[in-house]
Amino acid sequence: MTNKLLSIHELTKNIGSITPVKGISFELQRGSCTALLGPNGAGKTTTLRMLAGLIPQTRGEIRYGSGNAHTKDWRNRIGYLPQYPKFYSWMSGMEYLSFSAKLSGLSGREAVKRSRDVIEMVGLEQAAKRRISGYSGGMKQRLGIAQALVHEPELIMLDEPVSALDPIGRREVMDLLYRLRGEVTVLFSTHVLHDAEEICDDMVLMVDGEIAEKGSLSELRTKYRQPVLTIEVEPGEREIAWLDSLASRPYVHEIELGKRGAKLMVTDMAAARTALIKELADSGIELLRFEAGTSSLEDMFMKVVSS
Ligand SMILES: Nc1ncnc2c1ncn2[C@@H]1O[C@H](COP(=O)(O)OP(=O)(O)O)[C@@H](O)[C@H]1O
Ligand SMILES: [Mg+2]
Repeated sequence: MTNKLLSIHELTKNIGSITPVKGISFELQRGSCTALLGPNGAGKTTTLRMLAGLIPQTRGEIRYGSGNAHTKDWRNRIGYLPQYPKFYSWMSGMEYLSFSAKLSGLSGREAVKRSRDVIEMVGLEQAAKRRISGYSGGMKQRLGIAQALVHEPELIMLDEPVSALDPIGRREVMDLLYRLRGEVTVLFSTHVLHDAEEICDDMVLMVDGEIAEKGSLSELRTKYRQPVLTIEVEPGEREIAWLDSLASRPYVHEIELGKRGAKLMVTDMAAARTALIKELADSGIELLRFEAGTSSLEDMFMKVVSS
C-alpha cells in the first residue's frame, strides 16, 4: 500500500537565464527518510526552497498528501531548516524556540510546552537557558532542527544540516537525524553519499538540475554491484592498442580507459578472467596489475558527479 506524503511532478525553476531545476519528479512516502544527494550547484537548495513554499516554481506541480487533500494549506505541516540558518544569538535556546512556535501559530502556553518537548528531543535541555551565541555549531544546528519540529510537522526538510559542522557536531546531528527517522518524514540534502547511506532508506540523486538516479538505497546498491576487472599495463604501443581492443570482447559490458590501464565492467567474471589471462600470456603484454573486484554505489556516484 502506498502512502504518499509528497509528490512533485516536472518541477522546474528558471532564474533569469539559468534553470537550476529542470523538470524533476519524485515522491516521498509517509514515514520515509530520503536524502536529496548531489554536488554543489546541483539544484538541491532551489528544490527545497520551492518545496518549502519560499520561492514559486516556474513550472510543474507540488502536491502534499494524497488525493484531494492537498488543497489545504500545507505550510504548517512542514518544517524547514535552511542551509545557512540565522539565529537571534542574544536569545536563549528556549526563548528562540517559543518565539518560533508562536510565529507558527501556537498559543503562548502551547508554545512553551512544545518548546520544552523539542528541546529535550534534540538533547539541549541543559543548554535551554543559555544564550545561543555560546552554542557550538552542532548545538546551533540541533536548535535549528528543534525549530523545524516545534509545530509538529509531518515532514521536515533540512538543507545540508551537517555540511558546515566539525566532526563532533556532525556526529551529534547525524545521531539526532537517525533518532528522528520513523517519527517524522525526513528529506535532507547532502553532497556526501556516505551521509545518505548512514541515515536514509531512499535517495534522489540530482546532478545539474536533473535527477540522475533515485530509489531505495538497498536496491541501488544491488543495481550498481557489478564485477569489475582492473588492468594496468606498461604504457607501450602494443599494450595501449590491446587495451583499446578490449571494448569489443563479448563479456565486457562497459570500459573506462585510463592512460595505462582499463576498468572493465564485465558480465561474467570467471569467463573474463580466464580469457584475458590467456590473451596476456600469449601476447606477451607487460602486465603491472590484474585485479578482480566489485563496483559500488560510490563508483557510480563518483562517475555521475565528475562527468
Ligand atoms: N537566486 C539565484 N540567482 C542566480 N543563480 C542562482 C540562484 N539560485 C541558485 N542559482 C544557481 O543555481 C544552481 C543551483 O543552485 P542550488 O540550488 O543552490 O544548488 P545546491 O544547493 O545543490 O548547491 C547554481 O548554479 C546556483 O549558482
Ligand atoms: Mg545548497
